[in-house]
Amino acid sequence: MIRISHLNKSFGEVKALRGISFHVEAGEIYGLLGPNGAGKTTTIGVLCGLVIPDSGEAFLNGVDVIRAPVEARRHLGVVPQEVTLYKELSARDNLGFFGQLYGLRGRELKARVDGVLTRMSLADRSREPVERFSGGMLRRLNIAAGILHRPKVLLLDEPTVGLDPQTRAAILDLIRSIAKEGTAVVYTTHYMDEAERLCDRIAIIDHGAILAEGTLAQLKQAAGEREIVALRGTFRPDAGPPDLSSLPGVEIIKMTEEEILFSLANAERQVSSILEKIGAVGEVREVAIRQPSLENLFIKLTGRELRD
Ligand SMILES: Nc1ncnc2c1ncn2[C@@H]1O[C@H](COP(=O)(O)OP(=O)(O)OP(=O)(O)O)[C@@H](O)[C@H]1O
Ligand SMILES: [Mg+2]
Repeated sequence: MIRISHLNKSFGEVKALRGISFHVEAGEIYGLLGPNGAGKTTTIGVLCGLVIPDSGEAFLNGVDVIRAPVEARRHLGVVPQEVTLYKELSARDNLGFFGQLYGLRGRELKARVDGVLTRMSLADRSREPVERFSGGMLRRLNIAAGILHRPKVLLLDEPTVGLDPQTRAAILDLIRSIAKEGTAVVYTTHYMDEAERLCDRIAIIDHGAILAEGTLAQLKQAAGEREIVALRGTFRPDAGPPDLSSLPGVEIIKMTEEEILFSLANAERQVSSILEKIGAVGEVREVAIRQPSLENLFIKLTGRELRD
């Protein structure tokens, strides 16, 4: 349903996309998981026909997005990262406006609007100006606008940012139910737990490239049995990495003045030897061991945490 291959895009000096390829089938939820600036919105922009890539291809339901953007957009619903609604209009009028953009009219339009308002639990507030809505209500209405015309492909760009856990859970349920109806969904997030809970397949994206891709089980397996030991304290990275030659299999994946991250197996058994070595190059205040997980894989691949 969605197929993109070898997308490249630069904005001046910034390489926003470097060879992004993936495909998403009908009914599948595909997660793009990555930190700020990873290239998530740019990828979504290409699929919407709003960003023209320097090279590469993108197809929606077999239609070339770059050559035939208008036709491609008919298959597409988009929930943009920034809420795009008319504040002075009611929820009903906002949806009416978006529905008309998609070519819906008359009784059909009214039925669809009523349907999505109920589905998003907004029916009882549907006649108030949306400037009175809470953040969660605006987000729900933004999603409603994206699914009104029952698109075959739904792109959601970080739709739950800033929402409380209950509202987030409700939105995830809703996206699952939309996918069950056969819609191909691309879901961008920097929340690890959302990617884990929602997505059938996940791509870890950073600096414009997909670093790993697969089901949650596949990605966890790729993380291997290796754990991460995180030391916090005061270090001197400019003095070079500590000598770990007597500790086979222990790898440094990040070293800053405040933190050193090691990837290794059997962390419990090796941690005291690591501390001995590090004692020579800095002062350790805190030691943490993290079990194998998607988060570890992410840190190992990108050298950073999603919260950074
Ligand atoms: N229109 C633009 N002009 C210049 N640079 C841009 C433009 N759009 C994106 N970029 C740059 O491209 C890179 C990728 O940005 P993008 O918005 O795709 O990241 P993102 O993964 O969506 O991040 P976030 O989680 O912050 O939304 C960033 O370095 C960004 O500054
Ligand atoms: Mg973005």
